[in-house]
Amino acid sequence: MTDPVVMGDREAIAARISRRSYLPVPLDSDQIASIEVLVAEANSAGGLALALVADRPDLFGGFRKTYGLLTGVRNFLVLAGPEDDPDAAEKCGYYGERIVLELTKRGLGTCWVGGSFDRGSIGALVSPGNRLFGVIALGPVEDRLTPRERLVRFSTHLVKSTAGRFHETDGSEPDWFFEAIARVALAPSAMNRRPVCFKVERGAIGCALRIHDATAGIDLGIAKYHFSTAFPDGVWQWGERGVFLVRA
Ligand SMILES: Cc1cc2nc3c(=O)[nH]c(=O)nc-3n(C[C@H](O)[C@H](O)[C@H](O)COP(=O)(O)O)c2cc1C
Repeated sequence: MTDPVVMGDREAIAARISRRSYLPVPLDSDQIASIEVLVAEANSAGGLALALVADRPDLFGGFRKTYGLLTGVRNFLVLAGPEDDPDAAEKCGYYGERIVLELTKRGLGTCWVGGSFDRGSIGALVSPGNRLFGVIALGPVEDRLTPRERLVRFSTHLVKSTAGRFHETDGSEPDWFFEAIARVALAPSAMNRRPVCFKVERGAIGCALRIHDATAGIDLGIAKYHFSTAFPDGVWQWGERGVFLVRA
């Protein structure tokens, strides 16, 4: 089990990988309470409607709905946000990944899931006025990947070689920029497409999406969160045209 005390953001980013086989062990009450705190912080900061569902293996949908990629899921976060917020998907990505890295520090496995779950039963948990963007499976896992997890990881990572560049710069980047890009390179993304490119022009840091579809907004928020861990004194504006504001 990873030591939860010494792991910072950088270590958690390096240690995190998607886990798809969960142990038949429930979360204990302390774990549930501490995850609820993280969820409440995310909802308050992002105006979101994230929710923890604990010990409900029936709701995730089993083998049929998850196409056999995830097994044993009994806990997950429902990712939902206001229908009238154009940045809600991105905020789910940003604050969801903040929770993912905290859970990694605590030795729990996680996996973002964009589509392959039971939308009917999980959608019913979302309160009116909010939209369901996906879920994050979470829970205790083996220390090492199971052979089945290795196989799925191998196949999803085949596309990495075709992924585009993570950055473009005219040379005016701050000295921590490449550390931030190294953290972005380790971020999860739907089908491992890694669609976000960070750009520096005359000292201003922005970003652009190569793909525009249902999960690209989540990928954008996740990538922005990984980026921001390298420079906590900065803050991202939301949206594809948002820039990274560095506090003086
Ligand atoms: C928005 C989003 C949706 C995803 N959906 C799925 C999914 O439906 N099934 C799955 O097995 N993995 C899913 N993943 C996990 C990605 O496949 C994984 O992040 C990517 O292959 C990189 O691998 P890593 O997370 O181990 O670094 C998703 C990831 C993201 C960010």
